[in-house]
Amino acid sequence: MDNNLWLALESRDALIAGDVARAKKKMAQLAAQEYRPLVPAAWIADMEAMQGYARAVAEARDLQEASRAMADVAVSCGGCHQKLFGGPLGDDTRARAPEEGVEDVAGRMKRHQWAANALWFGLARPSERDWTAGAEALVDAPLLPPRQAEGGVVDQEGHAAMERIRELGQDAQVAEEPGKRAEVYGEILASCFKCHASD
Ligand code: HEC
Ligand code: HEC
Repeated sequence: MDNNLWLALESRDALIAGDVARAKKKMAQLAAQEYRPLVPAAWIADMEAMQGYARAVAEARDLQEASRAMADVAVSCGGCHQKLFGGPLGDDTRARAPEEGVEDVAGRMKRHQWAANALWFGLARPSERDWTAGAEALVDAPLLPPRQAEGGVVDQEGHAAMERIRELGQDAQVAEEPGKRAEVYGEILASCFKCHASD
């Protein structure tokens, strides 16, 4: 529909990477976009509602607020697509979840990123199948602590943080309405951030 919407994905990935300043800048840009000349008049109210959440990310006082508002952005994308029956509808999660089995940290991170993306599309398309697939990828992570590139496995604290993400995957599996899903997604983004930002 318009390239500015990719700002939402860039902002989400900035949050995952622990760069809250970049996430806020991208959402300030989306919030400032004038949609009147670009989309039919009937869409404006929904566009502005979505931009209101983008502004909430831009103005968030902390990570928790930014992550939660980011999830609200995705839900508002999905709400409009469903209403207008337009947009990236359909359930075509493009890749399969990474394989089960013993994982190293890089493999676990690929799984996390894949799940964060599938859950996003679950909200923003919206798509039940994408949401479920993303939740399952988190829940199905191998139980053993992942191997580290430098040898050994992640320490107890790191493993506990990863197990917390599995629990959030379980929360995602039982969350049904969009508001509850946004809450869980916000917590997932925040827990990626906490670990990456402290590196
Ligand atoms: C005002 C309603 C509305 C909102 C809000 C909205 N969309 Fe859309 N979107 C549509 C409609 C209608 C289409 C299909 C027609 C079109 O592509 O112009 C669409 C199409 C798309 C497509 C299909 C590819 C393309 O470029 O045509 C993508 C991707 C997309 N939207 C992403 C998003 C994202 C991400 C958000 C939230 C940041 C969002 N949309 C918010 C109504 C909306
Ligand atoms: C326990 C701490 C921890 C948590 C929690 C965590 N990460 Fe990571 N992440 C790391 C470390 C350490 C690296 C860099 C090491 C590596 O890539 O081997 C990393 C790197 C990454 C990378 C870059 C990988 C690459 O190939 O360069 C991505 C993408 C990523 N994480 C996604 C996520 C997502 C999404 C989440 C949340 C669902 C998440 N991570 C949660 C510790 C964590």
